[in-house]
Amino acid sequence: MLAAAQCFAAEGNPDLGKQVYEKWCSACHAPGDAYPGTLALRAKYKGALPEALEQRSDLTPDMVKYFVRNGVTIMPFFRKTEISDVELNAIADYLTKQGTKQ
Ligand code: HEC
Repeated sequence: MLAAAQCFAAEGNPDLGKQVYEKWCSACHAPGDAYPGTLALRAKYKGALPEALEQRSDLTPDMVKYFVRNGVTIMPFFRKTEISDVELNAIADYLTKQGTKQ
């Protein structure tokens, strides 16, 4: 148990990830009809994948980091002064760790 907890802590910080995600991402990616990111991903995947990012199980840390630093369509890219590398790692961690969400 202790080893698992240490390993978990060393890998990242999903609590920080959730906070940063809620600050910068959920305005577009929360579940529901009012969120442009969610609607765009609904149209893109047509039900093949969950439309809300927090429900996805296929995201990789590299994919999350790529989109956050580069943006896509109406999604802006985020500078390191807005989302630091530590915070981005935490978001990537949060979105790719199943079982620790919600
Ligand atoms: C202004 C709204 C907006 C904000 C803010 C936003 N996104 Fe997005 N995001 C989008 C849209 C729209 C798309 C889909 C673009 C498309 O049609 O491919 C998208 C796509 C993505 C994708 C690609 C998913 C896929 O399967 O193609 C990832 C990953 C992502 N966003 C992560 C994030 C994260 C993490 C944040 C917060 C740091 C964030 N987004 C903030 C609007 C937003």
